[in-house]
Amino acid sequence: MKKIRTAVFPVAGLGSRFLPATKAIAKEMLPIVDKPLIQYAVEEAREAGITSMIFVTGRTKRSIADHFDKAYELEVELEQAGKTELLKLAQSVTPAGVTCAYVRQPGALGLGHAVLCAENLVGDEPFAVLLADDLIDGKPGALKQMVQAYEEHQASVLAVENVPRDKTGSYGIVSAERIDDHNELVNGIVEKPAPADAPSTLAVVGRYILEPQIFEELRNIPRGKGGEYQLTDAIAELLKKRKVIAHRYDGVRYDCGSKLGYLKANVDFGVRHPELGQAFAAYLRERQG
Ligand code: G1P
Repeated sequence: MKKIRTAVFPVAGLGSRFLPATKAIAKEMLPIVDKPLIQYAVEEAREAGITSMIFVTGRTKRSIADHFDKAYELEVELEQAGKTELLKLAQSVTPAGVTCAYVRQPGALGLGHAVLCAENLVGDEPFAVLLADDLIDGKPGALKQMVQAYEEHQASVLAVENVPRDKTGSYGIVSAERIDDHNELVNGIVEKPAPADAPSTLAVVGRYILEPQIFEELRNIPRGKGGEYQLTDAIAELLKKRKVIAHRYDGVRYDCGSKLGYLKANVDFGVRHPELGQAFAAYLRERQG
């Protein structure tokens, strides 16, 4: 069985829900307290044993590429000012042993198209896909839990959680048969069904481990929901031929693609922050009182 070495981060979305903040930077660069969303996702991938990070970028490419690059001027200035701790922080953004590659998605043609853009860089091996605006707080991280499921079942793995029925229209929804407390065998998947049409309330969240056969399906799917090439539609084809597992991870997900989810993440990570957590929690109590 091949080890998962590569992660694909589709980061070409327009981020229009966060305008004007996302006019010049990718929405994945928005910070939760002091760290951009994309850095949490890269750290989660590294923790899962992944060393090759592939970013499928768009218009706002530069902010992400710069973030994971060496910042010479900044490092020299911090060094000269004797700010050793900050220097270490700036240098540790890209985890040790990690390489980053960038490929541009020409146009907003959907998540399926974004993943297909990474095919040449991924090659003929299984890989992970992480959508950084789904921030998952888990110990170990959600992707590491999924890699364990991949190793156990030797199949593609989708992260899932139950959502309220009135929210099915925001997710890929699976129908599946229980294997154990954490894993189910997927027998159907549909992109963003209306609540009345949803086969269940088990929603795919932004973490996937995919076998390379997905590329063949991605090349052949027609445009789907919203006129875009949907990863969900390719998975629906894949599961006719290969086993696909839905994995209920342990952890808390923050939908940072929505302003409310983003604010919740900032509050929860804020009260736990080593430097300002206590003061922030005291401030929140003061406001309530
Ligand atoms: C995408 C996928 C959807 C999945 C979701 C998870 O939708 O198309 O199947 O459930 O990510 O966050 P998006 O949120 O990009 O509209």
